[in-house]
Amino acid sequence: MIEILPSILSADFTRLGEQIAQVERAGVSMLHLDIMDGHFVPNLTIGPPVVKSIRKATKLILDVHLMVSDPDKYAPVFIEAGADQVLVHQEAATHLDRTIRMIQSEGAKAGVVLNPATPVSMLEDVLHIADYVLIMSVNPGFGGQRFIPNALNKVRQLDARRRELGLPLPIEIDGGVSLENIADVVRAGVNWVVTGSSVFHSSDPEATVRAMQKAAREATSVQV
Ligand code: DX5
Ligand code: ZN
Repeated sequence: MIEILPSILSADFTRLGEQIAQVERAGVSMLHLDIMDGHFVPNLTIGPPVVKSIRKATKLILDVHLMVSDPDKYAPVFIEAGADQVLVHQEAATHLDRTIRMIQSEGAKAGVVLNPATPVSMLEDVLHIADYVLIMSVNPGFGGQRFIPNALNKVRQLDARRRELGLPLPIEIDGGVSLENIADVVRAGVNWVVTGSSVFHSSDPEATVRAMQKAAREATSVQV
């Protein structure tokens, strides 16, 4: 079962509750929240008070993507604000093993993220403790960027590795995914698809999510 995770980065923040309700009606189970500190990435987004408000407005699983230089400082703050899952960049964590265990001990699931220039092999020694892995298919910082095709090779490598190790590790992808390329993405082995501008810049976010769910289902169904 492929999950579509709408990223609110491209939503209309003056009517965020309404936009979240639109994608909820399409039957998603997770919402992706992008936290940027203006240091790890060249952009600033939302902080804990907004996550707290979103927590009150929805029962969806909150998948919080930390694009910050100090994940050890901020992961507990966002878990306290309502994050169910916290994604930490391999490139930002000095002691990644410790950070993953800390997130889990705070009661959240821990995902690890790789930038486009970071090879899958960098995660070899944490694959058995991470709850899931996110492969960035754009350089983090902005919505609406072009998909970097090499991300698919990384997904295939990781898919092969999780099979070898017998790990039930969901693979997530983030950046530049649209109705045009979602079939390629899920065929490569992605389980969770983050999508921002394709959904929230469309005239009907609910219908766009449904169309993406359908395209993902068709791409993974057995061809006869
Ligand atoms: C980019 C963020 C993404 C972003 C994706 O740094 O991590 O989650 O919202 O947006 P699209 O789908 O527009 O590429
Ligand atoms: Zn993200």
